[in-house]
Formats: sequence, C-alpha cells, structure tokens
Amino acid sequence: MQQVIELEGVVKRYDSTGAPVLGPLTLTLAQGEALAVTGPSGSGKSTLLNLVAGLDKPTDGTVIVAGRRIDRLSEHALAKFRREHIGIAFQFFNLLDDLTVADNIQLPARLTGTGRREAAARAGELMEMLGIQKHARVHPGRLSGGERQRVAVARALVNRPALLLADEPTGALDTASGHDVRDLLTDLHRAGQTIVLVTHDLPLAEACASRTVRLVDGHVVLDSYARTAR
Ligand SMILES: Nc1ncnc2c1ncn2[C@@H]1O[C@H](COP(=O)(O)OP(=O)(O)O)[C@@H](O)[C@H]1O
Ligand SMILES: [Mg+2]
Repeated sequence: MQQVIELEGVVKRYDSTGAPVLGPLTLTLAQGEALAVTGPSGSGKSTLLNLVAGLDKPTDGTVIVAGRRIDRLSEHALAKFRREHIGIAFQFFNLLDDLTVADNIQLPARLTGTGRREAAARAGELMEMLGIQKHARVHPGRLSGGERQRVAVARALVNRPALLLADEPTGALDTASGHDVRDLLTDLHRAGQTIVLVTHDLPLAEACASRTVRLVDGHVVLDSYARTAR
C-alpha cells in the first residue's frame, strides 16, 4: 500500500539542552488511513503535525510526505509543497474575514494557478458537499464556529491534497458543532481521504479515526487500529 507519511528517526528540539520535545519517532501512515494523534497537553502533538505539514523542520531524521522528502526543502519549496499536497484545518479556523466564504475556499486553488472558473467550480462542489453553499457570499465572521470550521475544511480540500491535517478542529466549538465536524471528518475518511487529526477529544478520535497514536513526552506509547474496518 502506498505510504502518505514516512517518518524515520525524527527528533525535534526547540533548544539544544534537555530532552527533545518529540522523538526519536518512526511512523508510517498509509493512503486512506485516518490517524488520530492524542496525548496530554505539551506531549508534542502539534509539533508532530507541524513537521508533517512542513511548517517546521526536524532537528534530526527524515520526513517524507506524499513521496517527497521535505525536511531539507527551502521555505519557498515547502510553501509550494504545502499548497499542492497538504490541507490544514486549525482550531481557530484561520479564515480571512475580508473575503467571502467562496473566496476563502478558492484562494489556495488560485495560488496554485488554477483558473478562476475552475477554482469557483471546485469551491462550489465542496460547499455543496459540506452543506455551506448558502453562505457562499457571506463573510466568515458572520458564521457560527461549526460553519467556519466547515469552510476551513473546504479550503483545506480545494487542491485535492494527499493529506488532510487537522489540529484540534473541535477545540473551539460547542458540542453540537463539534459533532458536525466529527461527522464531516468521518465522511471524508469513508470517501478515502487520508487524515491526521490531532485531538485530546477522545470521542472524536474514536468516531473518526481508523488508527490512534498516543503521545506522552514526545514518545508513542500506544499505536492501535480500530477494530471495525470502515
Ligand atoms: N516554538 C516553540 N518553542 C519552544 N518550545 C516549544 C515550541 N512549540 C512547542 N514547544 C514545546 O514543545 C512541547 C510540545 O508542544 P506541542 O507540540 O505544542 O504539544 P501539544 O500540541 O501536544 O500540546 C511543549 O513542552 C511546548 O512547550
Ligand atoms: Mg497542540
């Protein structure tokens, strides 16, 4: 099976003294897996996600994502790699409030050179799929948290990324909106999307993920597969 993530001996230190905040870590994720990364606050979950996203570089080790070694790339090459191969949804959505919902979703497509019409068509398809088409011309500031997270996920998917990353996507949401996002991620996984979800929300992990990795002090203490195949 094709691997979407291959981490080999990955270590991250933020300073040269003391223990690393992550690793050494060796981990692979196959296409179609939905991995939940859980663990206490400060255990290295976001650090792991940022390394996989190419938002940060390891102190040591190899990071291969979508078949490409990314730990040695320049910032410019990383930015291009991220736009083309990775979609990220953050806890606080990181949407642009001066743009409409439709324009927020289209933006990463436009940045990779997709034409206006094609980007609009893809955004329309995603808004329909995620049930937010009625908000196309609205600015995200007017939407509820759950709706904003749907917009953020749509934006993350616009370039058909090999990998969808989500860092605490329900962390800023009320329970009902959290359930919406849970259902959305579950549907995406069923449709074959490879996902890494960082969360301390265990019911979310259980509902969406085919595999759970638990980090403690930067080490994997548990790596388990869901019993039921999805
Ligand atoms: N940019 C940074 N500079 C210094 N230390 C950091 C930085 N980012 C995270 N850390 C530290 O690394 C450890 C892991 O952090 P993080 O990956 O954010 O954990 P989690 O997402 O599991 O809460 C924590 O001790 C945190 O304080
Ligand atoms: Mg975190």
